[in-house]
Amino acid sequence: MAAPIAVAIDAPDIDTAARWASEVAPHVSTVKVGLELYLRYGPEVVGTLRGGNKTSVFLDLKLHDIPATVAGAARSLARFKPSILTVHAAGGREMISAAVEAAPQTTIAAVTILTSLDDAALADIGISGPSGDAARRLAVLAVESGARALVCSPHEVASLRAEVGPDVTLITPGVRPLGADHGDQARVATPEAAYEAGADLLVIGRPITRAPDPGAAAASIAAALRRVQAASA
Ligand code: C5P
Repeated sequence: MAAPIAVAIDAPDIDTAARWASEVAPHVSTVKVGLELYLRYGPEVVGTLRGGNKTSVFLDLKLHDIPATVAGAARSLARFKPSILTVHAAGGREMISAAVEAAPQTTIAAVTILTSLDDAALADIGISGPSGDAARRLAVLAVESGARALVCSPHEVASLRAEVGPDVTLITPGVRPLGADHGDQARVATPEAAYEAGADLLVIGRPITRAPDPGAAAASIAAALRRVQAASA
């Protein structure tokens, strides 16, 4: 079975993106398209990356605008059938419910706090206190507004799970295998630790796509997750 990994296909061009997507497709459930590719190639990129594969496409556009605009955007995207679409929880209750109503076939995932922001960076933008508190507050608000998934740091998974219950899908970027370059991610965890903490879908980009063989890198992380699943079964 494909591992619960969403490979972040943050590629500079569509050919590279399609190649990465097809190389990882046998090993992972999902590929994630972000702003870089979407803004360059438009929504057709969803179909290109899905290709002939069964892979789900996660559209990570982090929408954040007034409710009517976000609803319109989510409606426009719905016909491309992304499995997941992200919005910023900081957009507020009305904006989140507008997205949920506009794209009923898509899981709306609310981004709590970007994993690139540490406590000092959060204080700079006026979010004081530990990042975990802000993430918990935004998570509850998003779920109350109809979001069925949350994007959060691996370090917040356990506390958010306690807050929102078992039915909400927890999606975690900031995942780095031991020894991998952290890049710009401030709060990281290994794939095994994120999974054991209760994450449902791990977002992993550069450790897979920038590996010499992306397919092999995806397969090796998928195997590590299977070992954790077997050990806990
Ligand atoms: O390459 P890397 O594994 O850092 O990729 C992580 C992906 O997850 C990127 O596409 C990034 O935009 C996305 N992401 C994130 N933090 C969030 C939400 C999404 O890093 N809170």
